[in-house]
Amino acid sequence: MEAKDTVKYGIVGVGMMGREHLINLHHLRSEGVAVVCIADPHLPSQRLAQELAHLFNWPIKVYSGHQELLDSGLCDVVVVSTPNMTHFQILMDIINHPKPHHVLVEKPLCTTVVDCQKVVDAARKRPDTLVHVGLEYRYMPPVAKLIQIVKGGSIGQVKMVAIREHRFPFLVKVNNWNRFNINSGGTLVEKCCHFFDLMRLFADSNPVRVMASGAIDVNHKDEIYDGKVPDIIDNAYVIVEFENGSRGMLDLCMFAEGSKNEQEISIVGDIGKGEAFVPESIVRYGTREAGRDGVQTVKAEDDRIKYDGLHHGSSYLEHLNFLSAVRAKGVKAPAVDLQDGLISVAIGVAAQLSIEKGRFITIDEVLDKRNCKG
Ligand SMILES: NC(=O)c1ccc[n+]([C@@H]2O[C@H](COP(=O)([O-])OP(=O)(O)OC[C@H]3O[C@@H](n4cnc5c(N)ncnc54)[C@H](O)[C@@H]3O)[C@@H](O)[C@H]2O)c1
Repeated sequence: MEAKDTVKYGIVGVGMMGREHLINLHHLRSEGVAVVCIADPHLPSQRLAQELAHLFNWPIKVYSGHQELLDSGLCDVVVVSTPNMTHFQILMDIINHPKPHHVLVEKPLCTTVVDCQKVVDAARKRPDTLVHVGLEYRYMPPVAKLIQIVKGGSIGQVKMVAIREHRFPFLVKVNNWNRFNINSGGTLVEKCCHFFDLMRLFADSNPVRVMASGAIDVNHKDEIYDGKVPDIIDNAYVIVEFENGSRGMLDLCMFAEGSKNEQEISIVGDIGKGEAFVPESIVRYGTREAGRDGVQTVKAEDDRIKYDGLHHGSSYLEHLNFLSAVRAKGVKAPAVDLQDGLISVAIGVAAQLSIEKGRFITIDEVLDKRNCKG
């Protein structure tokens, strides 16, 4: 690959996930990518990223803020992997910058629906900029395999989408930003936007209303930051009803380390059922007609993955996919777009509000209807 063909990346926020992007991009170097700059105000994060870049033979420029990185004009693509509450301003500054930059923004798109909508509106006026939202669970091999089975019609019309995430508590983050709803958007926005995105994808429909029950029952109760105890919930059940009559259910528990799988997804249609298990990386599917004896079990793998990383190869495939959209120069849209980012946040916000109010929340209560299409 000629040097002129190299797609140059900048990473804003090089904490845990930013460095994960750096490593993934390193594994994509044969595709003609290079990380040329990073921005982060936190010196230990900067240092760890610099060490990685040094190891990868990438001489990077280091900035303390995203504005300097944008003004440098050094990169074509910006990866935004900063704390959730900073996504909005950073995205607006990228979209409004004189130099066009394509963007891969970590989930959630923003912490509020209003901010997501402002980003969607601003991006509409900037057709030279591609924005991909990092809802990467779609790319995990067992999930991708299940999507393929469901979209192929093997289970018929999808009626029920049940997703269970049973895992460990939230990790410690730089300056503990993830301990408070105001920073993260709340647990059902922060991490569960992944699952609401999958529900909508499997149901092939937009949400109508959401009912949730949840609380902070076990984790973080003995932690105090600047005199405040964390307010992020650690378990919840969430029911989502979709326009086409299908329904979704999320079962989230963040004090469930004693689980074989972290995610278990079950999709039932009118003629069959499919299931995916992560990290076992197994998919099962069968039909009502063939019954239990006809259930097939397959191991899900993807030979394209050169680095499994923290998320079972999904970050690698996400980058591969976005790179192909960037290289297609406007002919190909990002596979996970701003609309997906917005609606996954809207469902999470509705779920958080449902817990607060103790009732169903219609999507119209949180989302301007003009944005809920397609
Ligand atoms: N795709 C996934 O499954 C996944 C997993 C983990 C995190 N994330 C997302 O990635 C993002 C980052 O999370 P993390 O786990 O890396 O957090 P982190 O705390 O480890 O790192 C965040 C970094 O951003 C830096 N930062 C803060 N404000 C900044 C600013 N204005 N400009 C530049 N840098 C800034 C911090 O100094 C820190 O180094 C979050 O949006 C999070 O939701 C996604």
